[in-house]
Amino acid sequence: MSEISVLSPASVANVVCGFDCLGFALSAPCDEMTVRIIEKKTVRIVNRDDFNLPTKPEKNVAGAALLSMLRATDENFGFEVEITKHIKPGSGIGSSAASAAGAVVAANELLDERFSKLELVKFAMDGEQVASGARHADNVAPCVFGGFTLVRSINPIDVIRLDFQPMFVTVVHPQIEVKTSEARKILPKQVSLTDAVRQWSNVGALVSGLQKGDYELISRSLEDFIVEPVRKNLIPKFDEIKNESLRAGALGGGISGSGPSVFMLSETSVTAQKVKNAMRGIYSKTAIDFNIYVTEINAEGVKILDS
Ligand code: HSE
Repeated sequence: MSEISVLSPASVANVVCGFDCLGFALSAPCDEMTVRIIEKKTVRIVNRDDFNLPTKPEKNVAGAALLSMLRATDENFGFEVEITKHIKPGSGIGSSAASAAGAVVAANELLDERFSKLELVKFAMDGEQVASGARHADNVAPCVFGGFTLVRSINPIDVIRLDFQPMFVTVVHPQIEVKTSEARKILPKQVSLTDAVRQWSNVGALVSGLQKGDYELISRSLEDFIVEPVRKNLIPKFDEIKNESLRAGALGGGISGSGPSVFMLSETSVTAQKVKNAMRGIYSKTAIDFNIYVTEINAEGVKILDS
């Protein structure tokens, strides 16, 4: 087999209380990617969209991830990756992670699954770092593993795939760009012990709620005392979006990754649609362009397409 095509999904990182550790993959949108073997030990990027992303492999998240993978082999060939992005860069739903994870999963298939999923997460994280300026795996892990993941440690890498109940996800994307690197600069350098205790209690409770299918516990745990208070100022109408979504019946939610997208989890698709209407009602009264969709947690992650 000399080429592999994949669909690589968007993802929601942090999941409110789990900054840099929790994340889940979304059923839509997905990027389309094809990776093929080329003779030279290098990585070639072919962009098939209008986002004008870098084509120098070391400056491109898919390219950097593949270079990292190539460094771990003694092969003399390289990879060409053709990318059609449907996940807008800077949207907060893991656009860079989709490129990085999709590239390494496809390349690994070409290498007869030489690398483990954990190794793929490490390569993808090297790509993700190009975009966000920091090493975090909370978007790439759910893309590679599928479903809902907890990154217990990045060094050494340790990813736990969590059980989860079916849930519907409403995502609103106001059409402004928030760069993850910028959104990380405004984060507090220190947190109080009181906030830390509240935060890690919520992470534990959320994981337990997911495991048990206890929607009320999931709802109570979706609180963030550390990141949301500073980042919400980057997102127009954040408080209103959140309050009205909860009134419409959402279990909870907040900033998706580093924003500007906001996500809400709901138990049923009917509620998720109500949440969508509530969100639309708020942004329609502003001059902000936006799009909203209802989707689900994607248990599979990067999907390898039949050739
Ligand atoms: N955990 C990362 C952050 C996710 O919040 O900066 C970026 O998508």
